[in-house]
Amino acid sequence: MSNSHDKGLENRYDSLELITQEVLERYAQTPDPRLRELMLSLIKHIHSFAKEVKLTADEWNFTMSFLEQTGKWCSPGRNEFMIFSDALGLSMLTVTQDYPRPAHATEPTLVGPFLLEDAPQFPMGADISAGATGTPMHAQGQILTMDGQPVANAVIDVWHSDDRGLYDVQDGLEERGAWARAVLTTGGDGRFSFWSVLPVDYPVPQDGTAIQMLKATTGRSWRPAHLHFRIRAPGQRPLITHIFDRTSKNLDGDAVFGVRPSLIADFKHQASGIAPDGKDMMRDFYTLDYNFVMTDAIQ
Ligand SMILES: [Fe+2]
Repeated sequence: MSNSHDKGLENRYDSLELITQEVLERYAQTPDPRLRELMLSLIKHIHSFAKEVKLTADEWNFTMSFLEQTGKWCSPGRNEFMIFSDALGLSMLTVTQDYPRPAHATEPTLVGPFLLEDAPQFPMGADISAGATGTPMHAQGQILTMDGQPVANAVIDVWHSDDRGLYDVQDGLEERGAWARAVLTTGGDGRFSFWSVLPVDYPVPQDGTAIQMLKATTGRSWRPAHLHFRIRAPGQRPLITHIFDRTSKNLDGDAVFGVRPSLIADFKHQASGIAPDGKDMMRDFYTLDYNFVMTDAIQ
């Protein structure tokens, strides 16, 4: 039995274009102008995609199930969805689009899936490895403004892999606490330094859903060895970036498209002896010197 309301729905879904049109008309009522712009464009593009590839109901149901599985791999410090964003190049596209910068400022790159808020604080110069295995590494440098002035009170998050290519969030964070991860705060000279272990190349996590997508598509799942940095300071735009090891075999072909030439640096091998901070090292170690140039905060 139909009523007058049903009559208005007759044949509405006979045309793909009518479906898209009805959805667009409804979302055109979104009050916030930016959200409205985003949603209308998203709907247009995702409907066009579905029509272009003649997406089947089974394929879409599979996708929804796959995303459900992806959510189950997420936890504090591990965002499996971010790996998809990274591996599809969307993270680097948005970072590049959103950070026009003077040529002499440090280039940003993607944040990756393993940023952990409220990481442990360490004094400057401390060993942040906290039991992580690997060859000792001493890193130091300075945080500078575009004018070359030191940035005081810069808060530096640093995080990286151990010599197995794993992060703390993949192995023992809850039992052991964070390792190879720290928050450091600069003094008036803007300088930073810390000890840790040398990061190595690693593949995206082997136990999640992103690796399934990569294995079925590009076959490229490795990342070149790197340190992650997030640097925040009053008056400066937050800088999220990596420093890559020049000796890595995976600089060309990073699974997540994050490498920028200006971010490649020398992790220098050093024989046992006196380290840059005066420590007498009984075994070989590595040193890294790198200065970061921040950009002014957007007014
Ligand atoms: Fe990483």
